[in-house]
Amino acid sequence: MSTDVMIYASGLTKRYGSFKALDDVSFEVAKGEVVGFLGPNGAGKSTTMRILTCFISPTSGTAKVRGHDVFDDTLAVRASIGYLPQRAPLYLEMTVYEYLEFAARVRNLDPVTFKKRARQVIEICGLAQSLSKEIRHLSHGYRQRVGLAQALIHDPPILILDEPTSDLDPNERSEFLNYLKQIGKDRTVLLSTHNLKEVEAACARAIIVSRGRVVADGPLDEIRAKSGRVRYIVSVQESAGDAPYRGKGPLPRQSEVEDALSKLPGVTKVVELPTDERAHSYELAGEDGIDLRPEIFRLVADKGWVLLELHRDTQTLEDVFRQLTIGDARRNRQLGPVKEDDRDADHYDEDEEDEDDEEESDDDSDSDDDDGDDERNER
Ligand SMILES: Nc1ncnc2c1ncn2[C@@H]1O[C@H](COP(=O)(O)OP(=O)(O)OP(=O)(O)O)[C@@H](O)[C@H]1O
Ligand SMILES: [Mg+2]
Repeated sequence: MSTDVMIYASGLTKRYGSFKALDDVSFEVAKGEVVGFLGPNGAGKSTTMRILTCFISPTSGTAKVRGHDVFDDTLAVRASIGYLPQRAPLYLEMTVYEYLEFAARVRNLDPVTFKKRARQVIEICGLAQSLSKEIRHLSHGYRQRVGLAQALIHDPPILILDEPTSDLDPNERSEFLNYLKQIGKDRTVLLSTHNLKEVEAACARAIIVSRGRVVADGPLDEIRAKSGRVRYIVSVQESAGDAPYRGKGPLPRQSEVEDALSKLPGVTKVVELPTDERAHSYELAGEDGIDLRPEIFRLVADKGWVLLELHRDTQTLEDVFRQLTIGDARRNRQLGPVKEDDRDADHYDEDEEDEDDEEESDDDSDSDDDDGDDERNER
């Protein structure tokens, strides 16, 4: 493990009874990285984050934060991390300022450092007008800001943020993302969110989990290219109608255009698209790593045809996300498993009795409340 590795997870598995919430999750996050941690509901994001922040232990596997083991060295781990849980446990009867003071005391901040840090986090989190309000009187979004403020108060080198922007309004969300970009320059951030635009705005890398497993991990560009689905849409004028034809060559026949496009180097597939009689339109697929647009343009220009349309669609992060996690959605809707991505059998070990079953597993229905209590008690 290099010294630059700030978060290290290896083979993390978490079982609740016979249910595997995490299944052999491994990844590393290096110093200065801002990593989006993505996955559908129930994929295991919060579970992973709670292990990394010492709130629950995995059934098996290892996790280290800044080289400190999350089992053996919890104090050092917690000192390095600012953690915003998905449902931040707040002391509702405290005012915002009292709560920040409390969070700072827990972090052993001296009063002078606290005042300095408090000024900064109050500004970042937009809490200036709410400092004397009791937390129980705050809206969801403001409570989330308070949760965020406590995660930042000790200026930690590592931030683990579980859906930090889910309750923020669009203005605050974009302010927060700007801030994240700034702090990401010299800090390490693991950020879970369902908002893929946010990931594109703030993260260079993403880890996607689905049903407890890592299904993609890498730079966003690599993840987008993962499916290899780049397509080109090309339309060439077929008829000028009543208007004068402006092409240098004669109006092309359909077979001529299709044939010429198929012969371009790098083109692997040409499919004709339905159009009106004014255009021949095609969808092209090409070899990975080659941009076909210059060749297509040159061909059309050489032939003297009139190019009506040429564009390339790379897959969006959302397309890839849906493709990689479709099994979760189908399972939730009780549709059959997806053949090429059939992991249902692995997710539940119906026959295996687990010796390490935790109390929490006895009652799944109120696990949220359990979570809150755990986090509050351990604070
Ligand atoms: N205490 C618990 N007892 C039993 N099952 C649990 C417990 N905590 C989590 N789980 C289950 O583990 C799985 C992963 O949950 P987790 O909260 O990590 O998902 P997530 O990716 O954070 O989802 P979301 O996007 O909805 O926040 C879910 O199926 C959840 O029901
Ligand atoms: Mg979660």
